Amino acid sequence: MNLDAPTSAARRFDIRQAGINPNHWYVVARSKEVTNAPLGVVLWQQGIVLYRDSQGQVQALEDRCPHRFVKLSRGCVVGDELECAYHGWRVSAAGKCTLVPYLAENQKLPSSQIRRYPVREQDGFIWLFPGDRALAETIPPMGLPEWEHLNYIGTVSMIDAKAHFSYLIENLMDMYHGHLHQDYQAWASAELEAIAETETRIDAHYTAQSYYRIDKIWSIAQLFFPKLRHLHPEPLDVSYVYPHWAASLGEDFKIYCLFCPVDLTHTRAYLVHFTSLNAFPRLHQRSIPFRRFVKNRLFGSAQKLLDGLVNQDVPMIEDEQQAYLENSERRPHELNQALVSVQQLIRTQAEL
Ligand code: FES
Ligand SMILES: [Fe+2]
Repeated sequence: MNLDAPTSAARRFDIRQAGINPNHWYVVARSKEVTNAPLGVVLWQQGIVLYRDSQGQVQALEDRCPHRFVKLSRGCVVGDELECAYHGWRVSAAGKCTLVPYLAENQKLPSSQIRRYPVREQDGFIWLFPGDRALAETIPPMGLPEWEHLNYIGTVSMIDAKAHFSYLIENLMDMYHGHLHQDYQAWASAELEAIAETETRIDAHYTAQSYYRIDKIWSIAQLFFPKLRHLHPEPLDVSYVYPHWAASLGEDFKIYCLFCPVDLTHTRAYLVHFTSLNAFPRLHQRSIPFRRFVKNRLFGSAQKLLDGLVNQDVPMIEDEQQAYLENSERRPHELNQALVSVQQLIRTQAEL
């Protein structure tokens, strides 16, 4: 018997070919990226155009003009509607054609309709529900409670990887890869202690060593000066909250990864890092405008760290994807039990 041969179950379900469960809220853009100029995005092979109407409300439509299926994102916003670049047809936020500039008196407006997506603007991001519209109201977006909270300083980095989303979430759930980030001193000595699984999430608890401790007002300088960092034990909790990721390192750091799977071999995502100011009660007694000023001024203070981590991770997962494309029968040797759970959850969700 060939022990390296894939089992029949594995052959039946190849995780690198897994689809997404569309009945969740995915993150397709940052709030600030959506203006009154149309923005084209792709979520799991579906072209979607985002824009702000005259009230500033974000609208999301299929990125195809009902006339000849040119991308509406090439056009412009006129009032609350989109105007196609090609022949100037206009489409309402409901996806209906409202104007054809050269319509003859004896002609009627075409009744064809393009798809409209449930979309929400929350916590600095645009969340979109590509599945059954009726379910959108019943399932809340994951959200980022720290985004508006005055005690947290945010930083956002963009991930754009030519790889299936499973490679990215496996990277994020496998804290043994601190080895890759040694020069950034992100964390050290991770050890998986426990895993909890449900149909919608995996929580993996690691013990680890952290270099950073935010307990003095100047501690934030540790993000810039390695000499100020000292190793100490901290719990490291990472969760696959399908389809996104949430993590915390001790009390001081929270990180999220918000997924926008583009297609089978391309994933975009936003990595969002928060440094807590919870250890400074005197700061909390200051006025709200002052605290907001501090929060806004320090926004992006972990940019170098976050971008550095992303730049190290992306080539790893792209290599994995490439190796799979070259030989999909070759199985990697995985020792981290958390990844077995992650793959099971992707499979469960894909089959729902
Ligand atoms: S293709 Fe859009 S107006 Fe003709
Ligand atoms: Fe990493």
